[in-house]
Amino acid sequence: MSEFTIDELTIPSALDDQHGADFIRAIEVGNEVEAIGYGTPDLAYEADEELAIFLNPHEPKRMLVARVDGEIVARALYETTVGDDADTAWLATEVLPEFRRRGIGTALAEAVEQISRDEGKTKAVVYAPIAEGPGERIPSPTGFGSIVADRDEVRFLQARGYRLEQIERLSRLALPVPDVDALVAAARERSGPDYRLQFWVGSTPERWRADIAELGTRMSTDAPTAGLEEPEDVWTVERVIEADERAAKMSPRVRHAAAVEHIPSGRLVGYTILSVPKQVHRAVDQYATIVMREHRGHKLGMLLKVGNLAHLARVRPGHPSVMTFNAEENRHMLDVNEAVGFVPVANESAWRKDL
Ligand SMILES: CC(C)(COP(=O)(O)OP(=O)(O)OC[C@H]1O[C@@H](n2cnc3c(N)ncnc32)[C@H](O)[C@@H]1OP(=O)(O)O)[C@@H](O)C(=O)NCCC(=O)NCCS
Repeated sequence: MSEFTIDELTIPSALDDQHGADFIRAIEVGNEVEAIGYGTPDLAYEADEELAIFLNPHEPKRMLVARVDGEIVARALYETTVGDDADTAWLATEVLPEFRRRGIGTALAEAVEQISRDEGKTKAVVYAPIAEGPGERIPSPTGFGSIVADRDEVRFLQARGYRLEQIERLSRLALPVPDVDALVAAARERSGPDYRLQFWVGSTPERWRADIAELGTRMSTDAPTAGLEEPEDVWTVERVIEADERAAKMSPRVRHAAAVEHIPSGRLVGYTILSVPKQVHRAVDQYATIVMREHRGHKLGMLLKVGNLAHLARVRPGHPSVMTFNAEENRHMLDVNEAVGFVPVANESAWRKDL
C-alpha cells in the first residue's frame, strides 16, 4: 500500500495560475465524495464557483490535501467566521472510497482540528451527508430525523469524539412548478395588503442594503441550530456592498432575490435567495430564507418562496430543479416547502466536538 503525504494548498487567485490545477482537482475529489453521501451530483459546485467562495474574506477558508503517488485522493476543509463571536470552525474531511481505512482521514482531521486550536477556536462543527439504506439507525437528539449507523463517516466521527446534534433534510423541487402564478396570487391573498414583493437579480439595490444587512445577521441566529450553537455572523451595509461586488466580479453564479416589503414602514421584513448556475441544465440552489420574528404568522415564507420561483420562471426558465436544506425540526419551513412540491432526497448530519 502506497504511503500518503499531506500538504496545505495555496488558494489560487485565478484558476489558471500555478496553484489552479491542484485546487481544481481538490474540488473534484470533494464533489465525488459528497455525491455518494447525497445520492446525487446536483449539489456539486464547479471550481470557478468554489473559488469565488474561497476568496470571501468574511468566511476564511483553508484546504489541506492528501496525495498518494503525487495524486490528490482526499481533502480537508477549515472554515470560520470573523468577528468577536468567531469561536467555531466548520470542518470536513473527504477521502475517495478506494483510499479509505489507511489513516488518511485521521491524519487530515487531526491537521484541521489542530489548525482550529491554533486559531483559537473552541469548537468544531462538521456537516456530513449520510447515504440512505437499511439497517440500524441513530436518532437525532432534537427528536427529528435519524441516520443510518453503519456508514464510514458515522463511525469515523464517533471514533473522533464528535456528538451528533442535528439532522438536516435535503429536498428537491422539480421545475417548472405547475400553476406557480396561481400559488403567488393565493399567497398574496393570505398575506394581506400590508406586504408586497420586491425582486432583484445580482447586486442588492441601494435602498435595500441596510435592511438586507439586518436580515442577513438575523439569518445566522434565527435558523434552528440545535446544540451546535453556531455564532452570530454580523452583516453591515459595507459587507453587503463588498459581497455584491465580489460576486459580480468573480462568481459565475447569479443570485435571484425576492424580498417582502412591509408597506406601512417601508422596510424589508423577509427575503429569500436562489443561487442560479450559468448552465441551464444544472440545479438551482436555494440559499437563505428568513422572515423577521415580528412579522411571522402572515404566510410570508410561502409568499417569498413561490414569488421567487415565479420570478425565476419568467426571467430564467429551463433549470431542472431547486435544491434546499432545512433542519428536520424546522416544521414551519418544511410545511412551506412540502406545499410547494419539495420532496426529501437525503439526510445531512451535523456534529459537534469541543476542542
Ligand atoms: C470519514 C472518512 C473521512 C474517513 O476516512 P478514512 O481515511 O477511511 O479514515 P481512517 O482510515 O483514518 O479511519 C479512522 C477510523 O475511523 C473509523 N472508521 C472509518 N471508517 C469506518 C468504517 N467503515 N467502519 C468502522 N469504523 C470506521 C475507524 O475507527 C477507523 O480506525 P481503524 O481503521 O483503525 O478502525 C471517509 O470515510 C470519508 O471521506 N467519508 C465521506 C466524507 C464525510 O462525510 N466526511 C465526514 C467526516 S469529516
